[in-house]
Amino acid sequence: MSEGFAARTVAAANGVAQDAAFGAVIAPIHLSTTFKFPAFEQAGPYDYSRLGNPTRDALADTIAKLEGGARAVMVASGMAALDLALSSLRPGDLLVAPHDCYGGTHRLLSFRAARGHYRVAFVDQTDPDARAAALAEGPKVVLIETPSNPLMRVVDIRRITADAKAAGALAVVDNTFLSPALQQPIALGADLVVHSTTKFLNGHSDVIGGVVVAADKAVGEELAAWANTIGVTGSPLDAYLTLRGLRTLFVRVEQQQRNAAVLAAFLEAHPAVARVHYPGPATDPGHALA
Ligand SMILES: Cc1ncc(COP(=O)(O)O)c(C=O)c1O
Repeated sequence: MSEGFAARTVAAANGVAQDAAFGAVIAPIHLSTTFKFPAFEQAGPYDYSRLGNPTRDALADTIAKLEGGARAVMVASGMAALDLALSSLRPGDLLVAPHDCYGGTHRLLSFRAARGHYRVAFVDQTDPDARAAALAEGPKVVLIETPSNPLMRVVDIRRITADAKAAGALAVVDNTFLSPALQQPIALGADLVVHSTTKFLNGHSDVIGGVVVAADKAVGEELAAWANTIGVTGSPLDAYLTLRGLRTLFVRVEQQQRNAAVLAAFLEAHPAVARVHYPGPATDPGHALA
């Protein structure tokens, strides 16, 4: 069985027919906030939905498998996922982030830095000298977003994560734009992967959501505990919808790529268009990495 085939099977069928109560084929939506203890002072697998919820776990488990991670934490938005992934940073710690990251990410990091929660250096990660200079400052975390939103700039995850680790930094990759259907940053060296599941993973424009996937189980457990502590875990209904959307991830992404290639070619040839930001055509600087 090819790896691609296995990943498609995970997307389409992970967690199907696992319901112990009634044999439901599709993982039920567990909206209950609270769960009964089987006996006095004996908790079952779940007790309170902010901490843990079976529907949320069904989604998190599927995304963790698709990303090749050990543990995923589903949260209320992509921004919450980024904030959670960066929650190990302390006052004075340096975060290196892409200068062309998503605008909301830029705002989050700038506002956190302005409040003294950590320091941030926005760096053009396509520039090896700028990267080396930033790493020489001893960052605790290097954030990568590739392709970037909205300029679709592509950087080399393998190279940047290797350099980040050599410098003693944690490597966090925002994989929103390619999704695990096309890119698995953990296999390329990332410690954490974040997503705005609002985009390709859910794919139906009806849920704001996010996820953090940890390569290391213990790190994932710590993040899950912190997500519970600050109360950013996602809702079971959102988890259900996102898992339902995820079932068709591969077929959607494949069709979207075909559509995007046609659109990009049309725009490239259009006399009114000065520049197309799309790493598909060989003329784009990110093409070789995409
Ligand atoms: C690359 C990227 N990361 C994070 C986010 C934030 O996600 P959300 O809107 O789900 O909070 C977005 C949103 O557009 C994004 O494009």
